[in-house]
Amino acid sequence: MYKDKKVVFSGVQPSGQLTIGNYLGAIKNFSAYSEEYRCYYCVVDEHAITVRQNPADLRRRTYETLALYMACGLDPEKNVLFVQSHVSGHAELGWILDCYTMFGELSRMTQFKDKSAKNADNINAGLFTYPALMAADILLYQTEFVPVGSDQKQHLELARDVAERFNRIHGDTFVVPEPLINSTSSARIMSLAEPTKKMSKSDENENATVRILDPRDVIIKKFKRAVTDSGSEIRASEDKPGVTNLMSIYGAFTGKSFEETEREFEGKGYGDFKLAVGEACADALAPVQAEFKRLVADKKYLEEIMLKGAREAAHDSLRTMSKVRRKVGFTEMPRF
Ligand code: TYM
Repeated sequence: MYKDKKVVFSGVQPSGQLTIGNYLGAIKNFSAYSEEYRCYYCVVDEHAITVRQNPADLRRRTYETLALYMACGLDPEKNVLFVQSHVSGHAELGWILDCYTMFGELSRMTQFKDKSAKNADNINAGLFTYPALMAADILLYQTEFVPVGSDQKQHLELARDVAERFNRIHGDTFVVPEPLINSTSSARIMSLAEPTKKMSKSDENENATVRILDPRDVIIKKFKRAVTDSGSEIRASEDKPGVTNLMSIYGAFTGKSFEETEREFEGKGYGDFKLAVGEACADALAPVQAEFKRLVADKKYLEEIMLKGAREAAHDSLRTMSKVRRKVGFTEMPRF
């Protein structure tokens, strides 16, 4: 039945405790596509090892990320939820697409530049070719739409370029994917400590990020400490990046527009506003946290979901893989 449906694919790295940036920019929006599209949501552990990981932590966070997907409303009966390294087609197509991705293209990726500055002692080849593996994730399932935060836009453009190049050389092979990026400011949630920088799960300053699983008191404390701007007005503007970011977060959790928030806090100070943002965030995350707690305690169930997802994804990936193998000129393995 799904063969008549267009495909949605997205992925999250299990490289740290997920933040409200990951939630608002990506995961929260995923379940909206489950009915209309064939949806694959992947825990991209192969991407995570481009930065050195503690193996035990990576394993634990892989389970946790899967549990979070479900806690955020993704029904495993209506979505293919799986782990990247369980489906060999990702690495296999990743290698092939490495050979269709240009050094110059990869050199322009801002995430590579940022991450190599942060990990100067480990600028490995995988960190550089990361976007080709990401293109493989997407193209493997003939994906039409990719819901992501705006930081992934450049990678998506590269995936499109690679798909178009391959199609030009070998004839129609891949669907050329479109990014689905929120038109609201929640497509890019900023750090609470440095509001001109993206909120990132690998930030070492704990006050910079709010984690989806942070307890209520921690969430409220972190918002209280959030950097604001000079002046005292609650108003969104370019010269008030701190307040504007908090207004985006408030709006994403309550559905209120900037104008509504400005009116609500007219005559009030930053203290009142920050408390309200913290409470709105903690209220919205409470059911997700409760569901997560329940799911993560049931490892056997998570493994059943992992297996089911991997089987479906592996099965679905074979069509693209056999087409690609033929097009590039690989021989079939002889069968005796
Ligand atoms: P990752 O793990 O860094 O982030 C997961 C998702 O969260 C979004 N996001 C944000 N959105 C708004 N504000 C923020 N501060 C913020 N931080 C993160 C990201 O845009 C992303 O949608 N390369 C990807 C993972 C990936 C992928 C894929 C995504 C691998 N293969 C194929 C889509 C399709 C990444 O590092 O996401």
